Amino acid sequence: MSFDEIYGRGPDGVWRAPGRVNLIGEHTDYNDGLVLPFALGQGVTVSAARRDDGVFELRSLQAAETATVQDPVPGSIGGWAAYAVGVAWSLRAAGHPVGGASLLIDADLPQGAGLSSSAALECAVAVALCDLYDVRVPRPELARIAQRAENDFVGMPCGIMDQSASLLCTEGHALLLDCRSGLSAQVPLDLSGLTLLVIDTRAEHELVDGGYASRRAACEKAAELLGMPALRDVTDLGEALSRLEDPVLRRRTQHVVTENHRVEAAVGLLRAGAVAEVGALLTASHLSLRDEFEVSWPEANVAVEESVHAGARGARMVGGGFGGSVIALVPSDRVPRVREAVAAAYASREWPEPRFLAAAPSEGARRVDR
Ligand code: GLA
Repeated sequence: MSFDEIYGRGPDGVWRAPGRVNLIGEHTDYNDGLVLPFALGQGVTVSAARRDDGVFELRSLQAAETATVQDPVPGSIGGWAAYAVGVAWSLRAAGHPVGGASLLIDADLPQGAGLSSSAALECAVAVALCDLYDVRVPRPELARIAQRAENDFVGMPCGIMDQSASLLCTEGHALLLDCRSGLSAQVPLDLSGLTLLVIDTRAEHELVDGGYASRRAACEKAAELLGMPALRDVTDLGEALSRLEDPVLRRRTQHVVTENHRVEAAVGLLRAGAVAEVGALLTASHLSLRDEFEVSWPEANVAVEESVHAGARGARMVGGGFGGSVIALVPSDRVPRVREAVAAAYASREWPEPRFLAAAPSEGARRVDR
């Protein structure tokens, strides 16, 4: 179905926002820490037209349900449409007077694969509404507006990474974002002879559930017990760990603090042109997420082990955890071998066949019809 067939007119424009892969820096964003994501070529496209009746009407080429909302307020709508309508609510709450719109959504990004399909949807709608209503918002602020839609309209307490990646990334670069100051830098991601292979483990995650929120709460509790604004502020890990009695809080703290260090180390290596060396940091990040933060899942652990065994320089789970994707840094001539090894390991366990995707660091959200 085309926009014209659904709405009886053409769209005013077409906008697109990408999903992301986080190279490294997992569960650090809501601890005021550092992240290093890059945007994927895959994402969400929104065709949109202004409406003067104030109504939001939504269709998706990937979903049967449609949605019509007169006055977006939290709780007024659920499901996928909440991510889109929530952005209109959040823009208005931030004082930006956007009116209604007819929207048609099309995505080439798998949902629940840990590649930020929700942030891509939010950001595509955000740039579309801003352009339709001539609202000028600096991108870092637009990322916060989209995050607020997810936090307060959808009800998922995510950090700022995914929306920032979708809005701020540039082609050929990873985005170093300091989630406390909001400052960011583009770090060249020159893959020379290496492939960033995304392995969709086919174990779908659902972040609106409690695992993510409980990790976030544990980090906040640990920071409070340490008398710090956030775990970002831990400068002496040994001393901090000795002050925490609860072994769970100790493990969570250990992950966050060491993960921030790994981001800094990865940036140093990338800037020095030593991309292959980043592999060891990826694997260290995975082990920390598996053993200290406890958000990995069996399919991810097997994908990481098999990739490394078959020649990847390193691999790790990406995103919030409990399902989704793994990223492996693989010498390009080893990619077939890695794919075969992971697929064979899944088949022998009777797990669904993994999906593979070669990730190219791509451009952030933009208008695409002109
Ligand atoms: C999800 C959240 C992000 C971030 C990651 C974990 O993707 O949306 O804000 O917390 O998990 O790094």
